[in-house]
Amino acid sequence: MTLFRRKPILELQTEAANDQRLRRSLGPLNLTALGVGAVIGAGIFVLTGQAAANYAGPGIVFSFILAGLACAFAGLCYAEFAAMIPISGSAYTYSYATMGELVAWVIGWDLILEYLFAASTVAVGWSGYVVSFLRDFGIEIPAALAAAPYNHVAPADAGWNVWRLFAEGWMTTGAILNIPAMLIVVVITVLLVLGIRESAAFNNLIVAVKVSVILTFILVGLAYLNTDNWVPFVPPPEGPGKYGWDGILRAAGVIFFAYIGFDAVSTAAQEAKRPQRDMPIGILASLAVCTVLYIAVSLVLTGIIKYTELGVPDPIAKAIDSLGGGVAWLRPVIKVGAIAGLSSVILVMMLGQPRIFYAMSKDGLLPPVFSRVHARFRTPWLATILTGTLAMVMAGLFPIGLLGELVSIGTLLAFAIVCGGVFVLRFTDPGIHRPFRVPAFWLVCPLGVLFCGYLMWGLPRDTWARLLVWMALGFAIYFVYGRRHSRLARRQASAGASTPSAL
Ligand code: ALA
Repeated sequence: MTLFRRKPILELQTEAANDQRLRRSLGPLNLTALGVGAVIGAGIFVLTGQAAANYAGPGIVFSFILAGLACAFAGLCYAEFAAMIPISGSAYTYSYATMGELVAWVIGWDLILEYLFAASTVAVGWSGYVVSFLRDFGIEIPAALAAAPYNHVAPADAGWNVWRLFAEGWMTTGAILNIPAMLIVVVITVLLVLGIRESAAFNNLIVAVKVSVILTFILVGLAYLNTDNWVPFVPPPEGPGKYGWDGILRAAGVIFFAYIGFDAVSTAAQEAKRPQRDMPIGILASLAVCTVLYIAVSLVLTGIIKYTELGVPDPIAKAIDSLGGGVAWLRPVIKVGAIAGLSSVILVMMLGQPRIFYAMSKDGLLPPVFSRVHARFRTPWLATILTGTLAMVMAGLFPIGLLGELVSIGTLLAFAIVCGGVFVLRFTDPGIHRPFRVPAFWLVCPLGVLFCGYLMWGLPRDTWARLLVWMALGFAIYFVYGRRHSRLARRQASAGASTPSAL
């Protein structure tokens, strides 16, 4: 069945061993820092406040634990794959080797939701912090030039009518464009085209700044905790998805965004010194560090200010403001940390997306233009410019909540497929060398699929509708283009009947 033709794992392993173009210079510390650099961003600096205010109250802590568990299962599965197939392309490459071309296409198409849309989402968060930072210095950016002109409220009576959920309920907000969000995407696109990559040293510096700022917030906040703010810890339900357990679940789906990025470690597999050992360390250690920080921040945040106050673009800065003049020095510190931190997330996401396009294009599933490398800058410049243009348009037009939920649902789907892939491969290729093995895979993999599915289920119906429309578009492109141009298909065809197609 051609739709399920697979790229042989041995071939990928040989490719990884022979491909010397990228320098293997990253050790476990750098890889962990890369993960933390890509993870800590808009999720914790922006979405946490909105998710607490609108969905979970202080119960947001449980949402972080729930989302962290889903990520732990997925992280273990990523670790097994990344150590086994230490080659760029991440989940797209893994699924091409395990579940065949159609699933690989689905995941590659789906990863656009993760990387490209995450860049837009984080750019909107960046805009919120920059506007607020400039305001502190008396520079006012008019709200109409720093907000999304469109918003969407799903029609209440749409049920599961995907088209109505997708097409109806759009409204204008009165704003013109989110210009700062667009500008940061343009600047980062230009940097990426010119080949200025986030070196490990630069990333380590940004991570040190981000983590120090967060630790400072936690330590200062601890001195100002008012436990009255935690009452009720789980506010009583006020309708579907608003407070109560339902709200915690919905918030977990939203703040799941905060964990996205640890999988970016796997895209650096070809730059790791000892990928078999260090990929699992980088993925799992960055996840562990971020989980502990997130739980501490959400406890402190909801402990120093009432959760109802947190539905703003810069909740951590707002919480600091509520503490009075004594800690006013912390306000600019938090903002600079957030602005630097968010920039690095945008950079890593926009670095990852063209690489995935590149891998898909080299396999023939996307047109060759996506794998064209600039002669002088040696970057996939056209794919980078396309990524930047799309991310810029999204960032300029849509609000952070809408974008972030779409990123979350897309990533959860990718994680679920990766967990499923590890499980399937244990049966289809039991003998392959696995430097890292998911412990109790028969439990962890299905739990990963279930947790990710559960979090997806908690997301709003209109987010589901967007995912379904996106996937339908992806299928159309695959059947019109990818299937016919697949390099593997051509190779198998020219190998003739003597080589049986896999699966
Ligand atoms: N986890 C990243 C963030 O929160 C995408 O910005």
